[in-house]
Amino acid sequence: MILPDGCEQQARTGTSRLDRFISKNSTFSLSDTRFLIAQKRILLDGCVAHSIQQKVTEFTHVVLDGHCLRDNNPVYIMLNKPRGVVSATKDAKHSTVLDLIRHPQKNELHIVGRLDLNTTGLVLLTNDGAWSRKISLPETKLAKTYEVTLSKALDDQYIDVFREGIYFGYENITTQPACLEILSEYTARLSLTEGKYHQVKRMFGHFRNEVLALHRVSVGHLSLDGLKVGQSRLLTLEESVNTTQKPMLL
Ligand code: URA
Repeated sequence: MILPDGCEQQARTGTSRLDRFISKNSTFSLSDTRFLIAQKRILLDGCVAHSIQQKVTEFTHVVLDGHCLRDNNPVYIMLNKPRGVVSATKDAKHSTVLDLIRHPQKNELHIVGRLDLNTTGLVLLTNDGAWSRKISLPETKLAKTYEVTLSKALDDQYIDVFREGIYFGYENITTQPACLEILSEYTARLSLTEGKYHQVKRMFGHFRNEVLALHRVSVGHLSLDGLKVGQSRLLTLEESVNTTQKPMLL
């Protein structure tokens, strides 16, 4: 069997039905797939394929006649982002979060929930689009927790206003209930379940209180836990599964 040029590259994206995947990534047609199945020539994750309707995800290991058509492992990484590093995969001016990662698949990774240039703390990177979508969806209600240092003194009024929500005119929305814990006169811990543009700075901006330092300490159950600034580590399989299956509510 001859594989068309670049078929392994094409095979890296999206979820599709087995017959569509085979016709896209080999010289066989959609209708040939039934015969390939009957002749037990296709393996999906090591098991003989049994139906043209089986789903092939971006991480299904697909073998046809002993040739690997797709072999892509999911990667989940947490990084403690330093100040001055941009949450992007490429940037002409600044170093990027990707510059801090050493992993053979690093060029496949995307960022899950960006932090501003001067914000520090937990950034997640992955090549698993379904995982990052689930984490980012407001319906998942995953708490993102920040430590905030402010220019003016805080008082208890902030707690009620943040819980009730703040109107953002630009998006015409009211922010979801957020949990504010005042740690000292000028510092607080804030947990949000959404990630609007500059959300934390704009929420304190409602009180004309400038954010001097912002540090994300956790996303759901994932926290930096001693990971030094600029360092990264792979998530365990359990951590990656728990992040989306057992979200931590406010
Ligand atoms: N909110 C902000 O204002 N900035 C960030 O980087 C993250 C949340």
